Amino acid sequence: MSELKAFIFDLDGVIVFTDRFHYLAWKKMADELGIHFDEEINHRLRGVGRMESLEIILERYEGEPLSDEKKHEFCTYKNDIYREYLSTMTPDDVSDDVRSTLAELRARGYKTALGSSSKNAKYILEQIGLTDAFDAISDGTNITRSKPDPEVFIKAAEFLGLEPSECAVVEDAAAGIDAANAGGFTSIGIYEAAKYGRTDIPIEKFTNLLTSPF
Ligand code: BG6
Ligand code: MG
Repeated sequence: MSELKAFIFDLDGVIVFTDRFHYLAWKKMADELGIHFDEEINHRLRGVGRMESLEIILERYEGEPLSDEKKHEFCTYKNDIYREYLSTMTPDDVSDDVRSTLAELRARGYKTALGSSSKNAKYILEQIGLTDAFDAISDGTNITRSKPDPEVFIKAAEFLGLEPSECAVVEDAAAGIDAANAGGFTSIGIYEAAKYGRTDIPIEKFTNLLTSPF
């Protein structure tokens, strides 16, 4: 492994917790279409892009095949509801541990970047007042393939002017760990991803980033 120069962070489930908002928005859409959708299916959507998430939900759809246009309409409908929830977010939604750890990593000379599949990432960062905590932002608006493809992290490394081998990715979802590994990054798994077998470095809590030997 090259000398570590940067940390690339997933957003949903690592920096903030928007799972519930995704769930409620997809649930409203699914209920209206008469599609069974529950927390377990929602779990499969973590780290996965919006259209890919819709396709997972539609596995339970029993109606006539849907046109691409209709699928885009459903995605827009879900996203409008999701953004209503996001509009309620404030800087209080970021823990002191996350805020201080990000600042301390930078003080130690590391670069920080965001690597999120979400097209709402910049809006979320604005809402929670964390835009300036990152040297680069790679999100759903600059990729064509979502995790577990490594594109979002490769772009983040490019934006930082670094090689993947110089960056560690911090992720809470298996799809994100797979993406990090596929791209040649060191994968750091937090929360559920700490238990995932393919994670390089498991950590229990965010502040462990300051005490782990990198
Ligand atoms: C990821 C979430 O961060 O973003 C996924 O974990 C979500 O659940 C994906 O589907 C896409 O988000 P958005 O905001 O572009 O719909
Ligand atoms: Mg996540």
